[in-house]
Amino acid sequence: MAVFTVDQTKCNQDGICAAECPGRIVEMDPESGFPKPAADFEDICIRCGHCVAICPTGAFKLDWLAPEICQPVNEECDITPEQAEQFLCARRSIRSFKDTRIPRTDLEKLLQIACAAPSAKNQQPWHWIVVEDPAQVRQYAGMVVDWVRAVIQSNPAEADAMGLHRVVASWDEGYDRICRGAPHIIIAHADKTWHFSAEDCTLAISHLDLYAASIGLGACWAGYFYRAINMYSPLFEALGLPLDHLAYGAIMVGHPKFKYRRIPRRNPPRVTWK
Ligand SMILES: Cc1cc2nc3c(=O)[nH]c(=O)nc-3n(C[C@H](O)[C@H](O)[C@H](O)COP(=O)(O)O)c2cc1C
Repeated sequence: MAVFTVDQTKCNQDGICAAECPGRIVEMDPESGFPKPAADFEDICIRCGHCVAICPTGAFKLDWLAPEICQPVNEECDITPEQAEQFLCARRSIRSFKDTRIPRTDLEKLLQIACAAPSAKNQQPWHWIVVEDPAQVRQYAGMVVDWVRAVIQSNPAEADAMGLHRVVASWDEGYDRICRGAPHIIIAHADKTWHFSAEDCTLAISHLDLYAASIGLGACWAGYFYRAINMYSPLFEALGLPLDHLAYGAIMVGHPKFKYRRIPRRNPPRVTWK
């Protein structure tokens, strides 16, 4: 079976597809001048689709990806450096939420954008759990607090270092430091044997976080929550993660109650120039 085909009536033989192929498995045939697959194409191809996406004439077609089904890049949507700086620096972790739920379609859109994140070898290893019901979020947050209480008992030094007493005290006073009263929480989990699951899931959640800000939603990483999933089996089981998976991140999402007016300062880069 051909793994890719090139429409020779459209191909301008610029060699960009070969230059951009991460596996260097698209080669320019010196005889015909057109791209051809290397012998190990099928074994090495990571299915990133770059060869199709980069071709300016739409000549390149993979057996699983035709140029016609790829959304064109809309240059009118390009943002200026000033807009990018403002957007990236003005994004905040949001911890006060309205009592409104996010429609399922918007949650689906968040996940769709999250899945556009880079991943090692294009493995896209992430799986998602979306806790849609706010009451269920509270219930799981309570389980995290159960875990926190157990850590305070079993490892008081670590509990002190992590400030866990404050988490319990707040919970007992009616304030949820785990999920901050957010209506939803989204968890990324992946195969624990894949070397890059942590990085890939983190990047996907970061994509989600940034896109959430762009559509007026608020989000905040839920560090205690995903740490608890991996360390507290009742929560792991309640969420139904596969046994060969770990949670690599969790993020609370909802409609922000307040609007930030300024950008707080951050440390300058600690950099060594070589
Ligand atoms: C891995 C990670 C875990 C975090 N866990 C929590 C958390 O459990 N609760 C919380 O309120 N914020 C949490 N945060 C948010 C950070 O506190 C926040 O990013 C930081 O204070 C900087 O604020 P900013 O995101 O608005 O710039 C977490 C952030 C990261 C990256």
